[in-house]
Amino acid sequence: MRRLRRTDWVRRLVRETRLLPDDLIWPIFVREGGGEPVPVASMPGVFRLSVEGCVEAALRARDLGIPVVALFPFTGTEKRDEFGTEALNAHNLVCRATRAIKKAVPDIGILCDVALDPYTSHGHDGILREGRIVNDESVEILCRQAVVQAEAGCDIIGPSDMMDGRVACIRAALDEAGHGDALIMSYAAKYASAFYGPFRDAVGSNTLLKGDKRTYQMDYGNAEEAVREAEQDIAEGADMIMVKPGLPYLDIVSRLAHEFAMPTFAYQTSGEYAMIMAAAGNGWLEEERAMMESLSAFKRAGAAGVLSYFSPRAAALLAR
Ligand code: PBG
Repeated sequence: MRRLRRTDWVRRLVRETRLLPDDLIWPIFVREGGGEPVPVASMPGVFRLSVEGCVEAALRARDLGIPVVALFPFTGTEKRDEFGTEALNAHNLVCRATRAIKKAVPDIGILCDVALDPYTSHGHDGILREGRIVNDESVEILCRQAVVQAEAGCDIIGPSDMMDGRVACIRAALDEAGHGDALIMSYAAKYASAFYGPFRDAVGSNTLLKGDKRTYQMDYGNAEEAVREAEQDIAEGADMIMVKPGLPYLDIVSRLAHEFAMPTFAYQTSGEYAMIMAAAGNGWLEEERAMMESLSAFKRAGAAGVLSYFSPRAAALLAR
């Protein structure tokens, strides 16, 4: 075996999988107002950007060969209410950023999250009634949110809410509104996870969240259930599926990628990013090597690509 590992050229020759800029989706956080990027404390190197800053990020992504940026809004408490009404505002932050990017960088893909958590006063992804997240009423609003986003120019609708039956309803709503070309990348297997903490800081829902999301996001003990989730989303019309978090659920990534032969993506979450950055910041591991190794693991597991906060840095490194 070691003959195949002796030199750099032979290692490159026999390498089975490789990471490309084409595999990367870059999640970016957008905020109101102009001016300089605002750092996210728990995610060193990640910032909340103005709409203008998002356009610059999209240009950078395009130049690096990154095919898609994913947009997430930071929403202050003043724009939040019990029903997440702001999600349906055609001029909300995500819609404005989407329009601005589409205008300036028409050849990059835009992914938008469908879920109410950036807009609800309680930080949940759906509608809360008597202490419970109600399913069908939430789905109705999520469908309208998806149409509003597609209208703004969003190319990929990413339902991350984990309500039952939402993919079918969103597909129907998009088609009916004349957005038959809008893709759906469903968060098919999304686990109730501690690894979303820094993200919730970044979008401003961490301190607001009442309770947890365990009545709709998956239990981390389950793998068979992930297969059922993916099966349903695909039957309902998902074009691509996603597993989230990433590294701690690599078994699920591999299983879904091989079982369904559908483009399967992994989300290297905010918490996974923060872990690597924190350890590297302490000098406990090598940042760049850990970044590339972790991203490449998704490809080896069978993923079509990865959503990662490391995307621009990894793409720049790959271009060298
Ligand atoms: C919202 C959403 C979350 C993430 C993406 N979309 C957080 C959550 O479900 O609470 C997490 C992303 C990350 O941690 O990087 N539905």
